[in-house]
Amino acid sequence: MDKKTIFYQLFEHESSTYTYLIADPETKEAALIDSVLETVNRDLKLIEELGLNLKYVFDTHIHADHITGAGEVRKHTQAKSAVSADAHVDCADIALHDKQELFLGAHKITAFSTPGHTDSCMSLVIDGRVFTGDVLLIRGSGRTDFQQGSSEKMYDSVHRKLFTLPPETQVYPAHDYRGQTASTVEMEMKFNPRLGLSKSKEEFIKIMSELKLAPPKKIHESVPANLLCGILPTQRVLAPTMNDGIPEVSVENVYEALGKIRLIDVRRPDEFNNELGHIAGAELVPLGPELQSFLEKADHDQEIVFVCRSGGRSGEATAQSLHIGYKKVANMVGGMIRWNEANLPTTRN
Ligand SMILES: [Fe+2]
Repeated sequence: MDKKTIFYQLFEHESSTYTYLIADPETKEAALIDSVLETVNRDLKLIEELGLNLKYVFDTHIHADHITGAGEVRKHTQAKSAVSADAHVDCADIALHDKQELFLGAHKITAFSTPGHTDSCMSLVIDGRVFTGDVLLIRGSGRTDFQQGSSEKMYDSVHRKLFTLPPETQVYPAHDYRGQTASTVEMEMKFNPRLGLSKSKEEFIKIMSELKLAPPKKIHESVPANLLCGILPTQRVLAPTMNDGIPEVSVENVYEALGKIRLIDVRRPDEFNNELGHIAGAELVPLGPELQSFLEKADHDQEIVFVCRSGGRSGEATAQSLHIGYKKVANMVGGMIRWNEANLPTTRN
């Protein structure tokens, strides 16, 4: 932390990602750079403790090794998410262009397009610091072998853009795997073994082509989620059919989905343990005031199947839940009568 800006370097150990918090002490306007979904709560707590107003949450690029915290941060703050226009993230609030300027009070953030690791990497310059994402790392570089990476473009980004910044500019990358925290433009020009001034573009391309790295473990989940600002696509276990506006599922579908969905039995307590029994794991919440207050409090995003004797009351419960904003609910057609006819297992307390 220095006098002119509030600055924190935070670390997420699973993906070795650095998240940076930078803020103007006068206006308290702040920016978070490369937040990670798993450490969003830590970052939000620090922002609150410092009394900052988060204005921006940046991603230097579409990460392949972790899911961005941008979408989650946005839910809890007024922050606008910002990522390169070339990344085509429709949900981002700000699509960054080369040399775009944004402000935290009087402090200017300039975004520079620095492709190479991906085709849409941005480096961010603010107050004598450059946040290089996965383009220039400390004594290293990001990889160039996927996501439209290009060794040639990376060399040009580093040599023509990053190395033209004042030599004392502090370099803060998105990752480090060796415990290093910061460098300077001058030190990287002198000592970066891949991209330093002593290395030609041809030498760099050859180094990168010989790396033969395994793909990042999380690439298949991270990239699609990051294109959605890190908000995971909502999936549901069951695929109900619509009947008069009510989503319906069969007893067989419910049986197969046991353990993966929430089952709410809306019958009266005396029916829960009668001759029809109930489904193991089902929760008894009778239709009426009890169900109403349950629905008000419960997570509206969870997947629920409503159950009753023959499907009438559970259809009513499904309609009520849809009415107040539940999206992944369904009615079990035929109720416990049909469940028993299909010889599916029941239980009694
Ligand atoms: Fe990356």
